[in-house]
Amino acid sequence: MLTTAKISLTKNDVADRAAKTDRICILHHTGDRSINNKEDGQCPFGRNGSVTNGIVGRDYGEYLRLDSLLSNVDMMSARYLPEPVHDEHLFITTHQTQEMWFKQILFEIDSIRDTFPERDSLDDRQCTTISQRLHRISVIWNVLIEHFTILQTMQPVDFMRFRHLLAPGSGFQSLQFRLIECKLGLTMKQRGNPTAVCGAFSPPMQSTLTKAISEPSVLDLVNQWLDNMDTADFAAQYTEAVREYLSDEQQQFDQEPDAHRREMLSRNLAQQKQVFEVVLDRSKYEEEVQTKKRRMSYNAFMSALKITFYRTEQRFQSAYAILTALVDIDSAMSKWRFAHITTAQRMLGSKSGPYSSGYLYLRSTIGDRYKIFLDLINVSSHLLPEPYIPPLSFHRNGTLFPRPVNDVLLAGKQI
Ligand code: HEM
Repeated sequence: MLTTAKISLTKNDVADRAAKTDRICILHHTGDRSINNKEDGQCPFGRNGSVTNGIVGRDYGEYLRLDSLLSNVDMMSARYLPEPVHDEHLFITTHQTQEMWFKQILFEIDSIRDTFPERDSLDDRQCTTISQRLHRISVIWNVLIEHFTILQTMQPVDFMRFRHLLAPGSGFQSLQFRLIECKLGLTMKQRGNPTAVCGAFSPPMQSTLTKAISEPSVLDLVNQWLDNMDTADFAAQYTEAVREYLSDEQQQFDQEPDAHRREMLSRNLAQQKQVFEVVLDRSKYEEEVQTKKRRMSYNAFMSALKITFYRTEQRFQSAYAILTALVDIDSAMSKWRFAHITTAQRMLGSKSGPYSSGYLYLRSTIGDRYKIFLDLINVSSHLLPEPYIPPLSFHRNGTLFPRPVNDVLLAGKQI
């Protein structure tokens, strides 16, 4: 791993660690510019095997393992057809680069899960680390969408020339993709096809997936973090504010002279009341949790609402950045799914894939069913116009999360 911190190791330490681990590939990036390999003018990489200030240098190709990385395009058409199909190279490269980015996303997700403390609430520094890494994940997903634009320069007729050689291979067998979904918080029950998903993997891969499912997901951890926030005062004030807002709306609509418009506004208000009722009446909310319409606890949801209302207050800013980044990830993943679906449809039409009905299955995955942070997205349904937002009351100890931590995390975990 690269580090910008100054490292003071003796030559022996370096040699020892170089022998034991690959992590000594810190090269000349020690933050100490004086040790850059100025004499050969080839900064930032050293000569392979050269030792400068006790650091074993590796040249560019060696450091990035380009030998093995770039020799990994193995075109089936070159093996089995009289002539290689030119576009198969692009097809493989696109999949491989996406898998590399999936690896990076998993690296970020694991570090985010590790950053959530077991018992205490998040401090500002942890909040910032988490929100920055979550943001990075959504940026990566957005970049991956563009990969499909490149892949779509392949014509369906050219894809047809080598597609038959790929069976039974399918992106459905991407373990990293499934791990990302699971580690973020998509449950097996949420999927339309849990048996097919498990069946796509060998027993060791299934064990990896099962392990990931049994661990707290990002959603679980976020839910626990928000659940620990004290929202009792806020919930009471919010209830009052909603009642006032709905009553003002009713009065205003009653004065509408046009009967048709009045009826339309009243219908709309009745719908709004139903939506608000779910969060005003805790038992109704709990019912929705039981029936899996909602995945966050009542208190967690109230916290998300509170953070959203007071997002510009300094003490809520970093928490709000986390909530925004989570919603960004869900939208970026939906957009990725959509770009993938349009690519698949363009190449295959309505033909089925090795694991599913093809386009029809893929289309089902862009619905709300596959959204992970839907509760956070739906916070918007419960917002109030500015004048109705209750004034912020200050906590006695000035912290965001004074409520004692409980064990909602694993107790409520559904697989
Ligand atoms: C010519 C381009 C592509 C076509 C025609 C295509 C086709 C399909 C089809 C039909 C499926 C549904 C599963 C099945 O029945 O096999 C699928 C799933 C999948 N593909 Fe692709 N795909 C293409 C490119 C890609 C690329 C570049 C990636 C990047 C890694 C990818 C990753 C996936 C993943 C992760 C799934 C599982 C999606 C899910 O279950 O939600 N595919 N693909």
